[in-house]
Amino acid sequence: MDQIIVHGNGPLKGEIPIAGAKNACLALMPATLLTDQPLTLTNAPRLSDIRTMTELLQSLGAEVASLQDGQVLALSSHDLASHRADYDIVRKMRASILVLGPMLARDGRAEVSLPGGCAIGARPVDLHLRALEAMGAELDLRDGYVHAKAPSGGLRGAVFEFPLVSVGATENALMAATLARGTTVLKNAAREPEIVDLAQCLRAMGAQIEGEGTGTITIEGVQALRGATHPVVTDRIELGTYMLAPAMCGGEVECLGGRIDLLAAFCEKLDEAGISVEETSRGLKVARRNGRVRSVDVTTAPFPGFPTDLQAQFMALMCLAEGKSVLEETIFENRFMHAPELMRMGARIDVHGGQAVVTGVDKLRGAPVMATDLRASVSLILAGMAAEGQTTVSRVYHLDRGYEHVVRKLRGVGAHVERLKEEQT
Ligand code: UD1
Repeated sequence: MDQIIVHGNGPLKGEIPIAGAKNACLALMPATLLTDQPLTLTNAPRLSDIRTMTELLQSLGAEVASLQDGQVLALSSHDLASHRADYDIVRKMRASILVLGPMLARDGRAEVSLPGGCAIGARPVDLHLRALEAMGAELDLRDGYVHAKAPSGGLRGAVFEFPLVSVGATENALMAATLARGTTVLKNAAREPEIVDLAQCLRAMGAQIEGEGTGTITIEGVQALRGATHPVVTDRIELGTYMLAPAMCGGEVECLGGRIDLLAAFCEKLDEAGISVEETSRGLKVARRNGRVRSVDVTTAPFPGFPTDLQAQFMALMCLAEGKSVLEETIFENRFMHAPELMRMGARIDVHGGQAVVTGVDKLRGAPVMATDLRASVSLILAGMAAEGQTTVSRVYHLDRGYEHVVRKLRGVGAHVERLKEEQT
């Protein structure tokens, strides 16, 4: 298996281009299932999760062409050859559940494997199912699959209040509602920029949607949707990750395409820690010129709160801060697996349930460490960049799910990072 070798670094300098958002793209791609006309996505990221979604859509009969070195995806679902999302694909990626709502809305039937657990927690899909049930879907759970049928005449508009905020369930319900009869009101909906991006794309396809980006989204169902071309929004998690690189190593890096509104809560925490963030005409310029980072406490929350997907990377920064910080994880129950790996590098972290208390140390030291999930893996690279000596990160396939050209991007700002291919390890 490939490994990433990181050597401790001095200050960084330069620019990092930020890609289109993985999580937005994974919701936009299934929107092709809502129409028999072509959907073109530009600014798509080149990632293994995108290839998995491509494979899934193709297995359903959609055509997906990857153009311009993967930055443009041309999707078309003239007829669906199958309505079954197989376990073999769904188990690889939970976002596969997002084909359920669109298939059900368009053709009145779908079979989707239940995703099962994953490394960061139980992550059930009950909210996806309850929202679709509220629209009249009949669901039967058997053989590890959800067998879903729409009532005759198709899904119908409904008022549904999510008992807790779920990004994926909001996306599934939003897509299904675009073709339902009548009005759907989604309350306590997720407000993430990826939801706004999906709503904008669906609107370009002819959907009638209001309120995206707030807790209440209202959708007036239409008879059919048409094709559209849509640029995928900037990846705020990739953005936040690279903003932490100069925060940890010192120096100044401009993240091209970045915007503060995508990450306001995170930028506030950087400011409290003593990192300067400036919005420029090209993106966000991040600098730590001198002095040690200050400790700050963080609690993860749905947007506009501090993103859970940046908690591991922020913990890497807090490992070197002055004083104690408390990081509280409220979204996923098992999301501190990076803590023991960081401790192998000399970090002082006490984990109690959903809370990690990090006592900053003067120095981290390079060590062999193991990536346990996507965001954890990149936190170890960041820590390695700020550590003395060599860090070897193994199981880097996690990284390929969500960070395109990570080595190239970091080397571009002066980081000593390289990838050893399997045959070299
Ligand atoms: C999405 C993101 C993921 C991010 C997460 C939270 C994608 C592809 N992934 O995941 O990177 O970490 O949002 O910002 O966009 N829950 C239920 N029942 C459900 C659905 C969710 O109990 O039916 C719970 C989850 O276990 C979790 C919480 O709700 O505790 C939030 O999960 P959710 O927002 O649904 O995350 P995802 O959409 O899976």
